Amino acid sequence: MAKTSLESILKLATVIPVLVIEDVADALPLARALVKAGLPVLEITLRTGKALDCIRAIMSDVEGAVVGAGTVLNADQLEEVAGLDCAFAVSPGATPALLDAAAESPVPLLPGAATASEAMLLLERGYRVQKFFPAEPAGGVSYLSALASPLPQIRFCPTGSISPGTASAYLALPNVIAIGGSWMVPRKILAARDWASVELLSREAAQLKR
Ligand code: 3PG
Repeated sequence: MAKTSLESILKLATVIPVLVIEDVADALPLARALVKAGLPVLEITLRTGKALDCIRAIMSDVEGAVVGAGTVLNADQLEEVAGLDCAFAVSPGATPALLDAAAESPVPLLPGAATASEAMLLLERGYRVQKFFPAEPAGGVSYLSALASPLPQIRFCPTGSISPGTASAYLALPNVIAIGGSWMVPRKILAARDWASVELLSREAAQLKR
């Protein structure tokens, strides 16, 4: 997949679920509930030992899912997810080594920035679409809004403690292309394997507009 497709991937969904899946048995019903509710672009974080198995399972069995890998911290992990043919990779920040690897990788990377300087360094590397992380602790809507004036060429995907209550304000910003978060898969609901509730929360998230 060409790297230029990252922007088009993010345009497929206004909200990207950021998923931490411990049990492969949960991967398929969870992904199916999200896709059915209208959230096809999924970020499966590499924060659990089963993440790669979950990615494999969803990619092969969930029709309509656009699967990316999250929490990709280094070149080895990027190579691993490229081997799985993931649609995209997400990193909470960026390092020179990761960016060097991304320049050679077939997988488009959404690298994270939390300051103007970090965003400018990524811009120098050609990244006009960046993750803003951690969105709420870093300054939230007003902070991200303030970056739009000096850096209008960058579109952000904010993630980090975004809730249904704050989601619309982020999406109303001119420099936001999509938002990410886990609020549609609360821990308790995931532990209870309550897929109907996931679907309900996801339907509400899918109705949010840019
Ligand atoms: C991330 O990695 O992007 C965040 O941790 C996910 O967002 P959350 O704060 O909604 O879980």
